[in-house]
Order: sequence, then structure tokens, then C-alpha cells
Amino acid sequence: MNIVMLGAPGAGKGTQAERISERCNLLHISTGDILRKAITEKSALGQKAKMFMDKGELVPDEVVISIIEERMSDADFRKGFILDGFPRTVAQANALKEMLGKLGRKIDAVFNVDVDDQELIKRLARRRTCNKCGKNYHLDFDPPRKEGICDVCGEKIMQREDDKEDTVRTRLAVYKRQTAPLIEYYNQEGLLHTIDGKRSIEEVFAQIKDILEVPCE
Ligand code: AP5
Repeated sequence: MNIVMLGAPGAGKGTQAERISERCNLLHISTGDILRKAITEKSALGQKAKMFMDKGELVPDEVVISIIEERMSDADFRKGFILDGFPRTVAQANALKEMLGKLGRKIDAVFNVDVDDQELIKRLARRRTCNKCGKNYHLDFDPPRKEGICDVCGEKIMQREDDKEDTVRTRLAVYKRQTAPLIEYYNQEGLLHTIDGKRSIEEVFAQIKDILEVPCE
């Protein structure tokens, strides 16, 4: 099964994608995580992406499309995937359709995780992230077992640069202008499932699990 997670910054796409990946055995591909890793490693990709990400703007389409194209050649891509943070523009959605078509694959479901702006801002302000393994936490709703330390790899958890309030406002405006049109795009394709993202993490997962056509724990 091949899934796309749609939703504004902070809606919970990454949190749900990680759960679906673990419990339903699908590959999780997050363009945000790939780009942040490239920045940490100071690679050419990271240098190209950093100035856009720091401002809360989208990285150019051709850069992210080539990231996805590369991931599609990995053997584990065949078992089914969850795209988290891609596509984010109509051009990316068209490119995805074309790339999958060439492989004889298609998107099976698109989950639009719906959360209002006030809640999004609250979530992002209290999010903490592990720079090493990319795991996200929320200081109130999903805290690490040991304060300030990642459960998975033991690194210190930090606030993401683009989670500062001004950048969050830019990201929300960019989402509304460039990504929200994909809701109608996938609705027209008959693939869209809108999920109430304001419920608890487990309740949101339960809504998604009910729709998935794969066995999940
Ligand atoms: P990316 O990393 O994709 O950021 P985003 O879309 O802004 O999404 P977030 O990671 O902020 O939020 P999320 O929905 O995953 O929420 P999360 O699960 O963490 O992209 C970053 C940047 O990279 C972009 O701005 C752009 O520059 C670039 N980029 C990436 N992809 C690109 C592309 N395709 N094209 C161009 N540029 C691209 O949850 C948020 C918080 O809430 C967490 O603390 C979590 O614990 C908590 N939480 C989650 N669910 C719940 C719940 N149900 N109840 C309470 N708390 C919850």
C-alpha cells in the first residue's frame, strides 16, 4: 500500500507516519528529515536547502523531486511506503504520479490530517526534535522518558530552527498558498481521506488504521 500524508506544519504527519511505518511495516519517507540530515552533514544538498528551510519557504521542486526519485530505486521501496511532506506543490504531485506510473505503481490513499492554526502553533512551540535520529517529541503530549534526552539514541533533544514563532507563521502561509490546493487535487482523484487531527495521537492513528488495507498491530 502506498500512502501520502498531507497536512499543515505541525498537524502530526510525521508522528502518524512513524507509527504507521512501525506498526504496519511500510517504508517512511520524510523529505523534511532527509533535508535536515543533509544540512547536519553539510552536504551540497544541505547547503542548497538550508536557506529556504531557515526562512520557512519550500525547497525548489526539482531538488525534492530528485530526492524522491532516488529513494524509489531502493529495494525497500517495493514493500509499500508513506510519503510525509511530499508532495507539497501541484508540480510535485504531477511528478510523483509520473514517476510511480513508470514503475507500474500508484498512490492508494491520501490522509489529510486536519488541525486548526491555533493548535498547530501550540504544537510546534512545544515540539522538540532529536537532531541525530530525527525523532519528534512534544513536551506535554509525547514527552521523552528522560527529560531532554531522545528515547531512541540518547542525544539531547532541541527546538527546530524553523519552529520559532515567526518562521512558523511563514510556513503556515506557504502551506495555505502552495500545498493546500493538493487537498482538492487528491479529492478529484478519489484518494482523499480527511482525518480529525485534533484528537489524541492514538485516536488519530485509529482513524487511519481503520482505512488502511494492510494488517497493523
Ligand atoms: P517538514 O519537516 O516536512 O515540516 P512540516 O511539513 O512543516 O511538518 P512538521 O514536521 O513541522 O509537522 P508534522 O505534521 O510532521 O507534525 P509532527 O508529527 O512533528 O519540512 C520542513 C521544511 O523542509 C519545509 O518548511 C521546507 O522548507 C522543506 N521541505 C520538506 N519537504 C519539502 C517538499 N516536499 N518540497 C519543498 N520543501 C520541502 O507533530 C508536531 C508536534 O505535535 C510534535 O511535537 C508532536 O509530538 C505533536 N503531536 C502530533 N500529533 C499530536 C496529537 N494528535 N495531539 C497532540 N500533539 C501531537
